[in-house]
Amino acid sequence: MRIGILGAGGMADALGTQWARAGHEVMISGRDASASAARAATMTAEATRAGAVGAAAEVAGAQGGVAGSDVPVAGVRGEVVGVRAGSWAEAAEFGEVVMVAVRQAGLVGVLESAGGTLRGKPVIDVANAEGPYDPAHPIAPLIRDLTGGHVVKAFNLCHVDVWRLTPPVFDGRPLAVPLCGDDPAALAAVRTLVADLGCTPVDGGDLDRAMLLEATAAFMIGLWFGGADAQAVLPPVAYSGV
Ligand SMILES: NC(=O)c1ccc[n+]([C@@H]2O[C@H](COP(=O)([O-])OP(=O)(O)OC[C@H]3O[C@@H](n4cnc5c(N)ncnc54)[C@H](OP(=O)(O)O)[C@@H]3O)[C@@H](O)[C@H]2O)c1
Repeated sequence: MRIGILGAGGMADALGTQWARAGHEVMISGRDASASAARAATMTAEATRAGAVGAAAEVAGAQGGVAGSDVPVAGVRGEVVGVRAGSWAEAAEFGEVVMVAVRQAGLVGVLESAGGTLRGKPVIDVANAEGPYDPAHPIAPLIRDLTGGHVVKAFNLCHVDVWRLTPPVFDGRPLAVPLCGDDPAALAAVRTLVADLGCTPVDGGDLDRAMLLEATAAFMIGLWFGGADAQAVLPPVAYSGV
């Protein structure tokens, strides 16, 4: 798959490196062409580094994961193609799937610079609100309206370092990644990209429900930063009442 990424920061680096390692073609983009090119070079080096998967799996193991188990590990599709860097418009044009990974402050300007080529494409929205969460201004429908793309909200619930783990597995369970979107083909593409991380895609409903993912992130991040074990607020499924 050709994956264009609007962004050259942490999320672009973490997820883009995983997908490059899995054999996808990746182009990132940022405000500073030379900084983006340097980032693309480090991503290529990391994606191709011998033993990178094993090293990251050790980290997962140290964090309660299952290094060395039969849980799927990224890096299975074949040859790694070098990560490229381009302008916002070039990355939008390049991607069969395009991930929007810019900070909220730059979102509208970047999407305007990206041009009209996102219309009809799968567009992954990883954004969380900066500052107080505002339910009157959800981000996912804004991205849909600005791009005309088939937006899928995903990857916003976990810190960037989680997306560097190969695989993100905790206590023997692959991380579940909820997806909210309306377009079946776009959802199918993002499910594939979730599975390429060694994670399990979860159907979160249509794009109208993306605001619930944004609210959940705001709530959970508040708990974590307050020192609580946010994961502990949910019971095992046997006690879910279903
Ligand atoms: N970090 C996390 O743990 C995490 C987790 C889940 C979701 N997210 C979401 O992922 C998105 C990207 O986060 P990130 O951690 O990758 O951020 P980051 O490392 O700060 O990178 C931000 C990217 O946005 C670009 N940008 C464009 N206009 C900008 C502006 N006016 N101000 C600031 N940056 C601007 C930056 O361009 P340059 O390259 O030119 O600097 C950079 O490529 C955000 O929406 C965030 O809410 C982050």
